[in-house]
Amino acid sequence: MVCLGNICRSPLAEGILRQKTIENQHTIIIDSAGTIGIHAGEQPDKRMQATALKYGIDLSTLHSRQVTLNDFQEFDRIYAMDESNYSDLQKLAKNEVQKAKVRLLLDENPLNSLKNVPDPYYGGQEGFEQVYFLLEETINHLINNLKHDER
Ligand code: 4NP
Repeated sequence: MVCLGNICRSPLAEGILRQKTIENQHTIIIDSAGTIGIHAGEQPDKRMQATALKYGIDLSTLHSRQVTLNDFQEFDRIYAMDESNYSDLQKLAKNEVQKAKVRLLLDENPLNSLKNVPDPYYGGQEGFEQVYFLLEETINHLINNLKHDER
């Protein structure tokens, strides 16, 4: 799961997906990162942590890191939170196989036509709540889509 700073959207996406896969006993390797490294080492934004905790998800053990070239080898899928992250990831990818791993997360969600998970960083509390509900709904679809892909 990749966003810009890896302190708001992608840590929440990681936390929700971790929780849902544990509940459903799926074994997949999950991580998140940012396209920029300026928050590297930091915990998720306090506002994002508080919103996640309100819905039972603890993000306090996560720490921001920047995307690495190794991620393109290690992971089968790299989900971008918005089109800008998607384009940055496409530029980093070394070949067509790596480029094909990069997808827009919201393309997994048939219930809305948004392409971009809104960046809540510069806004108010309601933005964090919106991101929570959008990601929660989308990750439910992602897990169902993964199950179908496995068959
Ligand atoms: P994120 O939000 O990409 O969802 O983690 C942001 C975090 C930090 C910044 C921008 C967006 N920033 O410019 O520092």
